[in-house]
Amino acid sequence: MSLIRKIVYNKKVNKNACNFTTPSHSQGEFVCPDAEKLLGKKFFECDFSETEGFDNLRAPDGVLKELQYNISKIYTSKNSFILTNGSTSGIIAAMLAVLGQNDEVLVARNCHVSVYNGLVLTGARPVWFLPERDEKWDIFKSVTPEDIERHLKANPLIKAVIITSPTYEGIFSSIPQISEVTRKYGAVLIVDEAHGALCNFARDYTGYAPAIVSGADISVHSLHKTAGAPNPCALLHISKSSKVSAQAVQDALNLITTTSPSYPMMAAIEATVEFLFSDRGRAEIRKLYDMVEDFITKASMIEDVEIYSGFCDKSKILLRMKSLPALAVAKILNEDFKIEEEFSNDNSLLFLTGIGTSKRKFEKLLHALREIAGMEVDSDFVAEKNPITLPQMIYTPREAYFHPSVYVDAEEAVGRICSEVVLPYPPGIPVILPGEIITESSAKFIMTEKIRVAGIDRA
Ligand SMILES: Cc1ncc(COP(=O)(O)O)c(C=O)c1O
Repeated sequence: MSLIRKIVYNKKVNKNACNFTTPSHSQGEFVCPDAEKLLGKKFFECDFSETEGFDNLRAPDGVLKELQYNISKIYTSKNSFILTNGSTSGIIAAMLAVLGQNDEVLVARNCHVSVYNGLVLTGARPVWFLPERDEKWDIFKSVTPEDIERHLKANPLIKAVIITSPTYEGIFSSIPQISEVTRKYGAVLIVDEAHGALCNFARDYTGYAPAIVSGADISVHSLHKTAGAPNPCALLHISKSSKVSAQAVQDALNLITTTSPSYPMMAAIEATVEFLFSDRGRAEIRKLYDMVEDFITKASMIEDVEIYSGFCDKSKILLRMKSLPALAVAKILNEDFKIEEEFSNDNSLLFLTGIGTSKRKFEKLLHALREIAGMEVDSDFVAEKNPITLPQMIYTPREAYFHPSVYVDAEEAVGRICSEVVLPYPPGIPVILPGEIITESSAKFIMTEKIRVAGIDRA
């Protein structure tokens, strides 16, 4: 029986059950009035603990095991895991499953901050590399197999490689070619596909096959980012060809996950995956990509507008206006048109779409761009440029995390070893990490008056 059917069945058949168990609202018998007004009673009626028939996510053996099995069939994985704490928890669990203290791991620096969390928890030693930049759009390009091979050759002890594809801005890397290299050097390939939850169902539109069917060992998907699930529903998959054991991933998840996973969220994960896989879901995905394509065609006809057209996930729209700084465009969109972009840098603006992006939104954006095109504005919109360098690493993230630290004035921090994660969010890509030297250019990104730096080790 599916989880959702089990919950519905329980509501009908077991409504007089007398559970002296958590959660204490007893499936909605008591709900705080404001919570009920906001979330409705139904949310609480679906909220269980591991009572009879509801399985246990730490060692699934019933309805949750079946749910994960069904998901693995849909994604053609060896094993799939439902995550009730986002791709963040999947990335950390993947790292804990394959890396130990001082193991070397090759990481593309445009990784999400969750990789840093995984580095602290595993104690692994990062070998950072910077993918090439596309200066015109001010974004990272794909990771190339040559990049990976160069580093694996130079560092034969590297045990795992972590890359993001599609990137925050939607750029794909060639997983078939990259995985050929990682296999040759015996490294585990972990792909952060948090933004690619639709990839499994949209191969015809993107030309990109999901990482785990293209040779990666592990991938993670945020179902909430593009697939219409609530925050922070996500999935982790192990590929059929991978030697990574399901038990190692389960153990890692048990280490970092609550013992009270949300049943409403798990039911939402089930509903989302089944929907994406259904004819209706596929039609909805097709509709989204058709709307994006239509938007791109029309927006490209505005003389001032240029749309990024590289190997990228078309659910993301990256655009620039030739006559106006991107930050000026963002300000006008926000203030005059009440349109909020996902992110903008000096050279481009990023708009995220997904299941749920309506035609009305595309039309509103199109109208705004037509109005803005050719406008004359004071162009004093200069953002502090992200230095995009690899700072010198003195301590590993774990060493730095446990190292004593002190606060100093931000202007005195140059040359000191950082003890904080300095990252603009979005996109959540770290500029300086604990253990790294703060340079003059990276110091400009410290937004606070004081910053924590490494102090004297009293040990
Ligand atoms: C590239 C990337 N990976 C991972 C994550 C973390 O995903 P989640 O919010 O599902 O934990 C994010 C979130 O913004 C992201 O942009």
